[in-house]
Amino acid sequence: MNKKLSVNMELEEIQNELSKKDRLNNDYLVLRGNNEDWYVTFNGIFKNKVKLIYLDPPYNTKRSRGARKNYLDTNSNWDKNIFNTIKKAYEYLTEDGFLAISINQMELFTLKNILDEVFNKESFVGIFPIKIRHHERQLMINATFHDVYEYLLIYRKNKTTRFINKMGKPRMEKFIYKIKIKEDKPIVKNVGGKKIEIYETNQYEIIKDKPSMKNFRRYIIAGKIATANWSGEVYEKHLKKLGTDKLIKVYGLDKKWKGFRWFITGNHKRKSGVYFQPAESAGRPILFSNHIDYTDIVTNVYKEGGEGIDFKDSKKPEVLLNLLMEMTTKEGDLVMDLFGGSGTTLAVAVKKNRNCILIENNADFIDIIKKRLDNIKSGKDLDEVKYNFNYNYFDSTSEWKNPTFLKKS
Ligand SMILES: C[S@@+](CC[C@H](N)C(=O)[O-])C[C@H]1O[C@@H](n2cnc3c(N)ncnc32)[C@H](O)[C@@H]1O
Repeated sequence: MNKKLSVNMELEEIQNELSKKDRLNNDYLVLRGNNEDWYVTFNGIFKNKVKLIYLDPPYNTKRSRGARKNYLDTNSNWDKNIFNTIKKAYEYLTEDGFLAISINQMELFTLKNILDEVFNKESFVGIFPIKIRHHERQLMINATFHDVYEYLLIYRKNKTTRFINKMGKPRMEKFIYKIKIKEDKPIVKNVGGKKIEIYETNQYEIIKDKPSMKNFRRYIIAGKIATANWSGEVYEKHLKKLGTDKLIKVYGLDKKWKGFRWFITGNHKRKSGVYFQPAESAGRPILFSNHIDYTDIVTNVYKEGGEGIDFKDSKKPEVLLNLLMEMTTKEGDLVMDLFGGSGTTLAVAVKKNRNCILIENNADFIDIIKKRLDNIKSGKDLDEVKYNFNYNYFDSTSEWKNPTFLKKS
């Protein structure tokens, strides 16, 4: 073979290898059949295991649906069916798990009532209206009004569980103090049930520096900080009386950082004490917002998943699943979708390194899911990345025997 050609080929192989994202330790399961039947088949094995369940059921719009209006989206047992599915979903969820369910306005309030009953009202996290149509582009001239929204209802099993927020950077200009320990031989004591270490003036130095994430901000313990702040209270109650100009490390505070906080007691010039807050734990959480506008991307969603994934039945944008997984899961968590459709949830789970179980009862759609997974493996999805993963497929009519998957979950 021509030498130049072989070098080029090697390069290509190396590049392919680099772009392969390894997901071989993850579990992916595609199941064909009714999600209620699979619940029976699972026989309790996924109870309390799933961190996020996404449901995108038929909306029961009573209208002809699908791009070619080829089926009537109506089900006189809709309430009962969805109640049963949600009840099962509730059991799959971990204690800190979330359920997110898509719906449009037709059954929104029926669905809210059902969710309140299964989860209870206090577990309602919120409603996320999703703008899916341009308000100025009206297609259905016979409608009473131009409806541009769909909705996402989010519930959590435990009312105290929060979304996984990212921390914003604090205002840096105040973080200019460094604490240098010159002689690490503190006196160790216990005050008010907390371990403390006391350094004398000659054992430490406070250095002023330029603003940095590695530095501390200094708070004078006076006014509200002395009376209505944990650190202020600890200082006033236990540290103030330990003498002047002592540097004190108090354990059991600032758990977001290293589990301790620095204080310096007052002196004749500065009567109040001070405490130091590290920049690393000072940022405020950046809350997720329920302002979601997909009007500019919906027209291109048909391309997601690569060629052959032109799914006409309400295919969801990958960014939606991406957002839900960001809000509620970490890498390695288990995600479940009981109305698989074209496999959007599983596709995003692979890309975001989550485990995933997907159920879909229509055999034609299962073929689409399989094709989508092949596309992801071979770098034929829009991002052109090759993901290295395996998945197991089971048909409800075939025997359920998957010890390798179950061993880990
Ligand atoms: C709206 S689509 C889901 C679309 C999907 N979110 C996506 O992005 O491609 C609803 C899917 O649920 C499936 N389905 C409906 N009832 C089901 C059931 N009881 N068990 C399993 N799948 C069901 C339908 O065949 C359909 O593919």
